[in-house]
Formats: sequence, C-alpha cells, structure tokens
Amino acid sequence: MAANNEPQLMPLRVTRNDRIADGINLIEFRDVSGKPLPEFSAGAHITIRVPNGLLRKYSLCNDPGERDRYQVAVKREANGRGGSSNLIDSVKAGDELMVAPPINDFGLPPRAQDFLFIAGGIGITPIMAMIREVQKQGKRFRLFYCTRSPETTAFAEELSAPEFAGLVTIHHDQGDPTCSLDLKPILAERKNREHLYCCGPRPLMEAVRHMTDHWSSTAVHFEAFSEAETHKAGDKPFNVRLARSGRLLEVPVTKTILEVLRENGLEVPSSCETGTCGTCRTKLLAGEADHRDLVLADHERKDQIMICVSRAKSDEITIDR
Ligand code: FES
Repeated sequence: MAANNEPQLMPLRVTRNDRIADGINLIEFRDVSGKPLPEFSAGAHITIRVPNGLLRKYSLCNDPGERDRYQVAVKREANGRGGSSNLIDSVKAGDELMVAPPINDFGLPPRAQDFLFIAGGIGITPIMAMIREVQKQGKRFRLFYCTRSPETTAFAEELSAPEFAGLVTIHHDQGDPTCSLDLKPILAERKNREHLYCCGPRPLMEAVRHMTDHWSSTAVHFEAFSEAETHKAGDKPFNVRLARSGRLLEVPVTKTILEVLRENGLEVPSSCETGTCGTCRTKLLAGEADHRDLVLADHERKDQIMICVSRAKSDEITIDR
C-alpha cells in the first residue's frame, strides 16, 4: 500500500532477497554499520522507498524480539503499481535502501490471552510475527491460513515445526472459491474472549467481518494489503454537515471526508486511512452512509462512520465534528 505522508527514512542494507514461494520473496534488512535497529512489536510495518521511487509499506514477519534485522515477505502483484515487483527484481543483497522505522496499526492487546488468526495469501506476514510473539509469551492461538496451493504458501516449513503442531491449519483452495475454507463454524462463537486478527485479500476480510457481527467489534482486527475502495465508479459528490459548527462542506468524488475536513482546518486523528484501524471512527447523526470500512459491525453502521474511506448514499450527512 502506498504511504500517505513522507516519513523519516534511514539507510538500511539489504542482506537477503530470496524466493520463498511462487511469486513471493523474503527480503531482509540490517543496519549499515551493524547497530541495533529500532524496536518493533508484532503487527508492525516498515515503509520502504523502492528503487523506482515509490514508498511502499510492508509488514514485518520476523520475531519482534530480534533487533539485528527486519524481514518482509513481498508478493509480486500483477495489478500493482510496480513497487513489489521492483523490489523482487531489482534489489540484491548488499544494496542500500531508505526505510522508515516500524509503525504499528495492528498491534496485539497486551492483556489478551487467546488469539484467532486468519490469513489469506501474503496476509500471513504480520501474522508470522504475531504467532512468534504470542507463543513466546505463553499465550494461546489458532491460525487458519488460506492459500491457493502448496507452491504459493510462504512459511510452510516454519509453520509445520513441532511447536506449532495442532495450532496451524493450512487450507489450499486451488483458486476455486467453491473450495474456500468454511469459516462459519470457526467464527460461530467467540471462544475464551479471543481476539481475532485477519489479514488477506479484501473479499476474505469482508467475509470475516460479516461472519463476526456478533463478536465485540473491539475484538476483531483487520489489516489491509490493498488500497481501500475509497473511490468507485459511480460515486457522487455529497455534503457533510458538521454538527458542532453547523458548517456544510462538499465532498467531491476525488476526495474522502477526512481529506475535506483537513483541508478546512479541522484536526482529525487517523492512522491506517484504509478503513481498518478504527482511529477515525465518527458519530453519524443524520443521513445514510455508504460504508467501506472493515471496522464497524452491522449494528454500529446506523450511527457511526469511518471517515477515511466511507462516503454517503444520501445527498447530505451530518457528523459529530
Ligand atoms: S484511519 Fe484507520 S479506519 Fe480510518
């Protein structure tokens, strides 16, 4: 996903760029003079300036206890903007790249003891760091990992290690949606106050969001790898009324509510800006929203809106700002 603001970058040396599955490479970075790297927690990502100039975010997949390296798994995206392919094809061990220190929008709550992880494809990357962390802390987890085939499954060997026996289920669908893993029984009840972390293609995350409507929304966490569907064909401009000041602002087709609020001098907290982290949650006081996030449960959608991605179905909505 593309970075939103220019972050502070540091030079890091690439020490590995190896194929670990079909279309997936593991890339490793270390400090250029061997110093410890800034710490990270499970779920964190780094932002890399790839050789073609793009800034791209990648989740760290190595053990968060390691201070000597960062590892990311990069998937060649046929329809991407070329950042991942550029990293896979143009970068070799010994190169230096500019990298921003880790940021975490997808962290694990420290007090939680039980975790359910669902990963689809390259969505396994933050989950790898998470299961390492959870296991080290003596907490409990289950992981369901869906991929197309054994050949496209990154980290298959690590996940079949004895320490993960009975905890990890890897499901291959051969690219056939009718062979997808049946998530309904897995998500039917929230066991032991589990926290669910899901990362993968948008349709998988939307299905999980839908099937966990009866869970507490604070126990369900998503990380998006692709850009949110902030803008779609057929979108229309609409007005946002700010209840506290009475101001009326127009949101054009090319902008989000968040962008319009900021342009008009409002300070609005945000983080992921992909509709997954929950930071920009805002009360919806009137009008009908066109929800495009993965945060809100169905029963919350009537009176709340994630303003980084969602729009309006009605000509005007009123929000509590
Ligand atoms: S900023 Fe993360 S959901 Fe809006």
